[in-house]
Amino acid sequence: MKILITKDYEDMSMQAFKIMKKVVTERPCATLGLATGSTPVGMYRLMAKDHAENGTSYKKIKTVNLDEYVGLDRSSGQSYISFMHDNLFDSIDIDHDNINIENGKAADRKAECERYNRLLESMQQDIQVLGIGSNGHIAFNEPGTPFGSVTHIVDLTESTIADNARFFNDPREVPKQAFTMGVKNIMNAKKILILASGSNKAKAVKGLVSGPVSEDLPASVLQLHPDCTLVCDEAAAALLEQVRD
Ligand code: F6R
Repeated sequence: MKILITKDYEDMSMQAFKIMKKVVTERPCATLGLATGSTPVGMYRLMAKDHAENGTSYKKIKTVNLDEYVGLDRSSGQSYISFMHDNLFDSIDIDHDNINIENGKAADRKAECERYNRLLESMQQDIQVLGIGSNGHIAFNEPGTPFGSVTHIVDLTESTIADNARFFNDPREVPKQAFTMGVKNIMNAKKILILASGSNKAKAVKGLVSGPVSEDLPASVLQLHPDCTLVCDEAAAALLEQVRD
């Protein structure tokens, strides 16, 4: 795993943006695997700024998002599809037909998981962006999720619900379930870019980099990926020093 430790969140976002821009420039029809949450927002802002100032085009780019809350769709401000429009898609020239994410409102949830798996099989991610949960989850693959998992529905853990409550007016509004790409779908990406910022991620980052590869800490599977880059700020990297000792 390649590790880049940056001074702060802004610097992490800039390093991540540079990696993303290289992919988009070298392969204008690339498939980008994208994540929601606070961590990639700075990178998305830089992508939008670069599009506005330098005309980097996303016209032929396709995207696949990691996850979506069960029961929410575009009409809900808290859905992940809304988040992606607000933070990136509405600020770049992407063809909206090329945007892919699970349908949180799908009536047949099993069929929706199967549809998404077929889609992922037909379009390998050239790069997959990931954040990391404070419990080591990637996408919504919570501790204990089999490494062989593909798109499925998860019951969110109490810690994930608590972490995500900040995006909702009332913590009771946080959905209890989500659709998520499985670990196997993520590992299928040609390149992985995992980002982490803040001291609340330090323990998970330590497990990601040097813990045993174990389903107890889903992110640790990335140690097995042939092209994975971790970009994290000093606060998130705080426990890595001890690892090197
Ligand atoms: C988001 C996702 C989650 C987040 C993780 C970190 O699509 O799949 O795994 O990446 O929960 O969230 P933030 O970035 O808000 O700390």
